Amino acid sequence: MQTTAKTQATCHAAPRTPNTAARAQRHGKDQRYFDLMAYIVSNTISGEIMAVENYSEMVPLMPTTDAKIETVKQAVEESKHIKMLASLGKRLDYAVKTEIVEPQWQKIRDHFSAAVKKRDLPACLIIQDLMTETMAIVLYKTLGRDTDPDTAQVAGLILADEIEHLGIGARRIKAMLEEDPDTVHDALVWAHHRVMPELFSMISTSCHSLCAELSVDCGGIGLDSIATDIELLRVDALDAYMETLDLVGFDAKVTMPLIASMSSYGVQPQADLRLRTDAAPGCSTGAGRCC
Ligand SMILES: [Fe+2]
Ligand SMILES: [Fe+2]
Repeated sequence: MQTTAKTQATCHAAPRTPNTAARAQRHGKDQRYFDLMAYIVSNTISGEIMAVENYSEMVPLMPTTDAKIETVKQAVEESKHIKMLASLGKRLDYAVKTEIVEPQWQKIRDHFSAAVKKRDLPACLIIQDLMTETMAIVLYKTLGRDTDPDTAQVAGLILADEIEHLGIGARRIKAMLEEDPDTVHDALVWAHHRVMPELFSMISTSCHSLCAELSVDCGGIGLDSIATDIELLRVDALDAYMETLDLVGFDAKVTMPLIASMSSYGVQPQADLRLRTDAAPGCSTGAGRCC
């Protein structure tokens, strides 16, 4: 693939030809592993950039000074995550994009901005603190398993922050649910149908342009390098989302149809047997399919 001039200018570590043999010896991983890491870490940085913007835009909507300060702190922590991930790519000698590339992030960002314009704080919290943080937790748990020690360490540090962010969101939304359950449930339904399809579409090794921008072997990317696959990740993500909805205490009469609608994303939950219709296997998305 061709590396564009734009890519050269925006990569934290511009694509180069590392001494792959020495790198493999140092980390015990092959080129496919580093291509996969470049892809995942770059896409993760995009999510972190979106989070910085979301939290920052949400600050004026927060009802108290303490809540504003807490939200600014969340934005700062997301900023640190960007720096930690970019530094990880540099240490392991692969190219990392430090800007939003895949369009789904911008779509979620736009939905968030629409919620801000409506002054719909429950929708903002649901999109960022619940939905995005839940997916971040699944991702960082995955990066903490069967990866190299540097990646596992960084993933563990960031995971602790994301778990805290989810807890903050659950606390905030619980309080709002007690005061005005109808409004908060309406916000959940609104956010779910706009944001969850975009988040789930990114649990994929298919990309719009990221592989090309990174100059990695698009067709060669596969999650087998970290002992998982797309179907497993999507089931983990769906189960985690269901756990989050339960944790907050949303009404099952509202959440069940939402979860059921996700079968159209090509995934069935494993945790809630009420929603399983198998023997039909849930997802036909192929790991390793790219661009
Ligand atoms: Fe983060
Ligand atoms: Fe976070």
